[in-house]
Amino acid sequence: MKMSEKLNIVIVGTGYVGLTTGVVLGYLGHRVTCVDQDMAKIDKLERGISTIYEPGLEELLIQSAAQVKFTKDLLRDLVDAQVVIIAVGTPAKENGDTDLSYVEAVAREIGMAMDVLKPPLIINKSTVPVGTARRVETVICEELEKRGQGCHFSVASNPEFLREGSALYDTLYPDRIVVGANDINALNLVRQMYAPILEQTFNPPQSVPRPEGYSLPALVSTSPTSAELIKYTANAFLATKISFINEFSAIAEKVGADIVEVAKGVGLDRRIGAGFLKAGVGWGGSCFPKDVRSILFTGSQYNCEMPLVQAALEVNRRQKLKAIEKLQQLLKVVRGSTIGILGLAFKADTDDIRESPAIEVIKTLLEMGARVKVYDPIAMKKYRQTYADQQVVYCGTAEDTASDADALVILTDWDEFLHLSWAEMGATMKNKVIVDGRNMLDREQLQQAGFTYSGIGR
Ligand code: UDX
Ligand code: UDX
Repeated sequence: MKMSEKLNIVIVGTGYVGLTTGVVLGYLGHRVTCVDQDMAKIDKLERGISTIYEPGLEELLIQSAAQVKFTKDLLRDLVDAQVVIIAVGTPAKENGDTDLSYVEAVAREIGMAMDVLKPPLIINKSTVPVGTARRVETVICEELEKRGQGCHFSVASNPEFLREGSALYDTLYPDRIVVGANDINALNLVRQMYAPILEQTFNPPQSVPRPEGYSLPALVSTSPTSAELIKYTANAFLATKISFINEFSAIAEKVGADIVEVAKGVGLDRRIGAGFLKAGVGWGGSCFPKDVRSILFTGSQYNCEMPLVQAALEVNRRQKLKAIEKLQQLLKVVRGSTIGILGLAFKADTDDIRESPAIEVIKTLLEMGARVKVYDPIAMKKYRQTYADQQVVYCGTAEDTASDADALVILTDWDEFLHLSWAEMGATMKNKVIVDGRNMLDREQLQQAGFTYSGIGR
């Protein structure tokens, strides 16, 4: 087997992770089939239209079109596959446990259809609790037994670490690639699949240039169980790091320090690192909240308390309401006031609103009797679809949102908000009050424009 040889790869699930991975592997020269049960998604993707908002993705979708095909039918393409990547959703159940029904359903189909003479390597890429690689193996074996076949194949765990909004960048230029595999052939196949990334032999796409000074990523080879735990440890750590700086933002405010300055002074210590030290209105998204709850659930199953992670979750719950506390301080009476919300996405450069701080803030403001106007450059459509019953005023621009408002609240760090004409916007407001929930604006500039400015921890 030559490292440069291209593979036949099937990816099941074309969400943020599956679609990004599929398009990138196609761009690197592999022959990729992306499978999704959602026909509407497949239709769009076949026409070169991205189903998610992710910078650079549509361009790469077109560039890799010859290598990547989209289909609803898993079974047909399974026969020739050398690698099958499972990237379907793994939502949280009510009790924090992870719903593995989609993963198991895919495993069952694989067992029903795979060619036993040339079994593909199965890779779990979805974030799944410890033991899921084994579980997937068991489910496939059950199906093979029904066919009177033996159980000769491998399941590896290959967690993703990509951030929405920079998913392509994180996939092409990772810090490390983690592979949990029990046999050397499986490890080598994963190495072959990622060879162009591990060796950086591909031509960088125009929209995602290779960063200067980038050094080759490490390949971390572990047991499947360690790989599964690495993913939860990483996400719980990052979530805790943000909660940590958010906790310090409260004390910074009390003593008159500026948390942005504090974070800079702390982050330059290489042992700590500058990333994920931005204080704000709390972490959201499709991963941190779900993964933190999931590892707490696993902990509870093993009678293993995790007070630190538990506290990170609790700090985050409170942090999401900081913007409301600030409005109460600044406006005194919130009932009957008009509040303009800038940003609905859980972070910039995505249309994803899952567990976005905006959801909690808007719900609370409405309960308190405020009139709420909202604007987001990209995520408004998703929000409107998801919260169709909510009585909020959707605005076409940030300027519209400011008009007549008693206060503005920034909840997402969209670049666009850096370039607004605050003096002009302020002139149309009832009160020039702004709560900068992402500490992204220049306080002095806002004050010069006549605003009462309040950030988080400064
Ligand atoms: C993924 C992982 O599932 C999650 O564990 C990880 O933490 C983050 O990445 P994401 O890519 O955001 O999540 O998932 P989602 O956007 O929900 O997409 C999953 C896709 O799988 C959907 O397009 C869905 O239609 C598809 N799917 C789901 C199938 O094709 N078959 C199924 O049985 C279930
Ligand atoms: C995360 C992980 O970073 C990624 O490795 C994993 O595989 C999927 O989950 P994502 O959820 O896309 O990625 O976004 P991320 O950039 O990690 O941000 C998560 C949340 O934390 C956002 O709500 C963001 O606004 C918040 N955040 C992030 C902060 O409040 N402060 C920071 O310093 C960084």
